[in-house]
Amino acid sequence: MEKQKYSRRFFLSTSAMAATLAFIPVGVKAFYNNVKKLVIPLKEKMAIKLSINKAKYNLTVDTRTTLLDLVREQLDLTGTKKGCDHGQCGACTVHVNGQRVLSCLTLAATVQGKEVTTIEGLSQGSELHPMQQAFIECDGFQCGYCTPGQIMSAVGCVNEGHTHSVEEIKEFMSGNLCRCGAYNGIVQSIQKVAK
Ligand code: FES
Ligand code: FES
Repeated sequence: MEKQKYSRRFFLSTSAMAATLAFIPVGVKAFYNNVKKLVIPLKEKMAIKLSINKAKYNLTVDTRTTLLDLVREQLDLTGTKKGCDHGQCGACTVHVNGQRVLSCLTLAATVQGKEVTTIEGLSQGSELHPMQQAFIECDGFQCGYCTPGQIMSAVGCVNEGHTHSVEEIKEFMSGNLCRCGAYNGIVQSIQKVAK
C-alpha cells in the first residue's frame, strides 16, 4: 500500500519535472528571438547631441557605444579611466546632469540632450576644483588610476550631503575601489571640502 502511494507521488513529481524541462527550450528560444529582434536593429549608427564639459557636440555613434568609450576613444578625454568595464570599480565615474553615473554601463545613446561632466571639466581653467586640491593636500591617491572616478564620486558625495560621518562617506564611496588603499586620504579630502 505504502509502495503504491510512493509510486504515485513519484510519477506526479517526475511528470512535473519532465513538463518543466520540455517548456524551458521553448522559453529560451522565445527569449533568444526577442533579444535578436531588439539587438539587430541596434547595430546602427545614431546621431546624438549632448554637452560634455560645457561644450556642445553633434556626434554620430554606434548605438552599442558606451559613454566611457565615447569620451575616451572618440573624444580623447582620457581622464576618465576604464578599470573593470563591468560596473564594479568606479574608475569610470562621470556626472550626467549633475548625478554620478558609471560611464561603462551607460550607453552613449541614452545621454542624448544631457550634460556630461568628466574629470577634465571639473577645474576652472588652471584653477583646480576644491576636491582636486583636497586630494593633493590629503594624499588621496598613490598611483592615481582610480582617482578621477574617486574625485567625481567625492564631489557627488559632498553635493548630495552624505558627509555627516566617516561611515556615511565610506558607504557613499563604497562603489569606488582603490587598489593602492588610499581610502583614509580620500575620506579626509571629502571631509575637508565638506567643512
Ligand atoms: S570601469 Fe566602470 S565600474 Fe569599472
Ligand atoms: S590610487 Fe592607485 S588605485 Fe587608487
